[in-house]
Amino acid sequence: MTPILEVQDLHVSFQRGHDSHVAVHNVSFTTAAGETVALVGASGSGKSALALAIMGLLPQHAYVAPQSRVRFEGADWLAASPRERATSLGRRLAMVFQEPSSALNPRMRVVDQIAEVAVTHTDASHTSARTRAREMLARVGLTDLERTAAAFPHELSGGQQQRVLIAMALLLQPALLIADEPTSALDVTTQAAILALLAEQQRQSAMAMLLITHDFGVAAAQCQRALVMHEGRIVEDAPMAQLLHAPSHPQTVALLHAARQLAFTP
Ligand SMILES: Nc1ncnc2c1ncn2[C@@H]1O[C@H](COP(=O)(O)OP(=O)(O)OP(=O)(O)O)[C@@H](O)[C@H]1O
Ligand SMILES: [Mg+2]
Repeated sequence: MTPILEVQDLHVSFQRGHDSHVAVHNVSFTTAAGETVALVGASGSGKSALALAIMGLLPQHAYVAPQSRVRFEGADWLAASPRERATSLGRRLAMVFQEPSSALNPRMRVVDQIAEVAVTHTDASHTSARTRAREMLARVGLTDLERTAAAFPHELSGGQQQRVLIAMALLLQPALLIADEPTSALDVTTQAAILALLAEQQRQSAMAMLLITHDFGVAAAQCQRALVMHEGRIVEDAPMAQLLHAPSHPQTVALLHAARQLAFTP
């Protein structure tokens, strides 16, 4: 098993004045190339903070303790220079952010934002990059393609923006995708189509994925393994089947119980 992502003792706190709040507590885990891992946990448990810390994209008032290590494709990712990271971001490592509106450039048409990823990282011309961007927008199920491609982000719905981010993240077939609630704003039919697209991409290019989701149904259908986060700590790391049938931590039991209570079969 070749690890693609190795997280060791990652510790993140947010500073406010003299106070600090620990969001991620000495988290360690490893993800293999091609593996799909779910990251589940209650709201506020630290999932997004962990994802942003791995990417090196935390806001300025966040503090990452010095012992924290993140290795991506064998290289020390947190110690890499912004320039070194920029060569991998969007190409080898991509993220779908939980808040699509803040992750998109408000002043750029969506087709140009997506095309820019290809122009930056490959020798694609602007014209061919735009064509590729349109194809990707169609694959994430955006209809009325001419209008949506030419739109600015604020002219799209939350679910459409989420799909633009997914199109951008998948464009160059990254080796690892970190997807933070990538389908939370989508109706169930579109959600199913997007999850199928992610699974197809994984089969095609052996992409590894860290899928952050509240939805145990999605996690169970999509992932071989799950990490359960509770109050900033990973309290369970187990194969999905084991987690569903014999959860070991009370928080996992509580999350599963809540998910099963909500399950509605018409
Ligand atoms: N930018 C920030 N500034 C200060 N505190 C933050 C910031 N982002 C997150 N936190 C705090 O860190 C903790 C973890 O937040 P995080 O966003 O990682 O939760 P989450 O598990 O992603 O929740 P959700 O499922 O609601 O998205 C919370 O207590 C939150 O208040
Ligand atoms: Mg979150």
